[in-house]
Amino acid sequence: MSETVRVMLEEDVVNKRIAELAKALSEEFEGEQLHLICILKGSIFFTCELAKRITVPVTMDFMSVSSYGSGTTSSGNVIIKKDLDEDIEGKNVVVIEDIIDTGRTLASLLKLLEKRNPKKLKLCTLLDKPDRRIADVSVDYTGFVIPDEFVVGYGLDYDQRYRNLPYIGILELS
Ligand code: IMP
Ligand code: MG
Repeated sequence: MSETVRVMLEEDVVNKRIAELAKALSEEFEGEQLHLICILKGSIFFTCELAKRITVPVTMDFMSVSSYGSGTTSSGNVIIKKDLDEDIEGKNVVVIEDIIDTGRTLASLLKLLEKRNPKKLKLCTLLDKPDRRIADVSVDYTGFVIPDEFVVGYGLDYDQRYRNLPYIGILELS
């Protein structure tokens, strides 16, 4: 089977949009502090690029959850592989996700984080694939709404590969 990647969103387009999201977040939390939660591993590039452009004080933590195996469809099981290092009680928390597909991962994750009593709990995703939504998730900040295609790059993987592509591309398997 051969794999090819077709460019969907060029690097400069992605970075420009991230700058807009950072501006909007900085405005919403003007005079306050932001606690960013990067959902490993897919959100790592997005979190870094976003954090660099936010103008209010930022702290960061990392969490690893899993709902996908090595293929391209959701298993529906959400497992916490690495929990946060710090308490989020009373903090302005922004969960940073790479992509929301069925929404199952985020729906369970947000419920769990809500129980830890953050001051605010917001969700920021680089990509949203609404066509495949199963669970109800309210997204506060979205980079791009995309069609139902399997995408890689800018942190997103297919079987752990392609994360390092500086752009977002559609993975074509033939
Ligand atoms: P959900 O629970 O179905 O919303 O799945 C969300 C997670 O599935 C994301 O954090 C990604 O890790 C993965 N995922 C969903 N769609 C894609 C895709 O098109 N490319 C790469 N990973 C994806
Ligand atoms: Mg992921």
